[in-house]
Amino acid sequence: MRLLFLGDVVGRAGRDAVAERLPGLIARYKFDFVVVNGENASHGKGLIENHFQGLRDAGADIVTLGDHAFDQREALSYIEREPSLIRPINYAPGTPGRGAMLVEGRNGHRVLVVNALGRVFMPPIDDPFRAVEAALADAPLGEVADAVIVDFHTEATSEIQAMGHFLDGRASLVVGTHTHIPTADHRLLKGGTALMADAGMCGDFDSIIGTETEEPLNRFLTGIPNGRFTPAEGEATLCGVVVETDPRSGLATYVAPLRVGGVLAQALPDFPG
Ligand SMILES: [Fe+2]
Ligand SMILES: [Fe+2]
Repeated sequence: MRLLFLGDVVGRAGRDAVAERLPGLIARYKFDFVVVNGENASHGKGLIENHFQGLRDAGADIVTLGDHAFDQREALSYIEREPSLIRPINYAPGTPGRGAMLVEGRNGHRVLVVNALGRVFMPPIDDPFRAVEAALADAPLGEVADAVIVDFHTEATSEIQAMGHFLDGRASLVVGTHTHIPTADHRLLKGGTALMADAGMCGDFDSIIGTETEEPLNRFLTGIPNGRFTPAEGEATLCGVVVETDPRSGLATYVAPLRVGGVLAQALPDFPG
């Protein structure tokens, strides 16, 4: 199977880039399954239903979230009737929505997607390692699930690499989100799990992690808030990671970064065969 994961979509620039480029990428590379992190798609904070539908219409099979999951409070209600929207699995018991979903891809393959929040330089939250492990136990790779994708949303690259090694051989892809900066450590672990510490964002990189530079810079310089954060509106770079899996085991055989458009260096996959 060919899997595509796109990092945090930020504001209008990110949404426009996904709408304009994702359908063509799916057609060109024949992706069987697409996951998009949408936690910043609505003005940088959360995801309204209309913007969620836009990501789905562009080709996202599953949309994941993060620490901004419920910044737009309507997500607390529509997530209950949208099985293709998942929020971090390690929120408190009783939180609306699901943290993991097993769904059928375009060719009938079953894909388990899990979203979790980390705990390093992040607000306190339940143990993500045990929560993800429990979700994987319900739909083991190669038995129930043909592919397993884990979106681990956290600040520290060490924590994501730890999750990768923890799940090595049990997931097709473990990828970090949240920092908005794509890392260059994409690789296959010994057990066959593809790992990348951060997918990067789908947003305007002429910015500070997707935000117009003026107010974040002011806060770094003075420590005194003087306005709101506003998403930068220049052309976005679409950032993510692609994986090819062995159809029998579900483990990864190829991993590569994907960056298209905007000001970042471009990178396109070169699938073998
Ligand atoms: Fe984000
Ligand atoms: Fe985040």
